[in-house]
Amino acid sequence: MSGRPATSRRTVLRGAALAPAAALAPATALGLAACSPTGGTTAPATPTAPVELGADGEVAKGSAKLYRDHNVVVSRSADGELKAYSSVCTHAGCAINKLDGTTLICPCHGSEFDATTGEVLREPATVALNELPVTSENGRIVAGPGA
Ligand code: FES
Repeated sequence: MSGRPATSRRTVLRGAALAPAAALAPATALGLAACSPTGGTTAPATPTAPVELGADGEVAKGSAKLYRDHNVVVSRSADGELKAYSSVCTHAGCAINKLDGTTLICPCHGSEFDATTGEVLREPATVALNELPVTSENGRIVAGPGA
C-alpha cells in the first residue's frame, strides 16, 4: 500500500451556534486572575522579626541592595545612614524583583519606588513602601520589626 489514507471527513461546525452565550461568562474571572502576583500559592511576606540580610559592606554609600529572599530593600545614604523598606508592592502585593540603581520596579503593573525613601515614583501604586527598622550588628545588616 502506498499514499495517504483516504480522507473524506466532513467538518461539522454545529457547536458554533452555542458559542456567543458561553463566551460572556468567563470575562470577569479573567480580570481577577490577571492580578495574581507570581502564580504561587502564598503571598510574598515582609519579615515579622529581625532577619540577618548580609554583610554590612554589601550596601555602599549612595546605593541600595534588594534582598529578594526576604522581600526587603536596604539603602545607605551619603552620610552612611541605613534605611530599609518592605519590597512587597503596595499596589496589589507583588514581590518586587528588580532594582535599577536605587529604583525598585514592580513586575506586575510597572509601579516604581525610590529605594532610599520608599516613595512612589510611578503609578499605579499610590502608597509608599512600608519602612522597616534596620541596624548593623557585628558587620551584618539586620532588618525587620525589633531590629
Ligand atoms: Fe501592581 Fe506592583 S502589584 S504594580
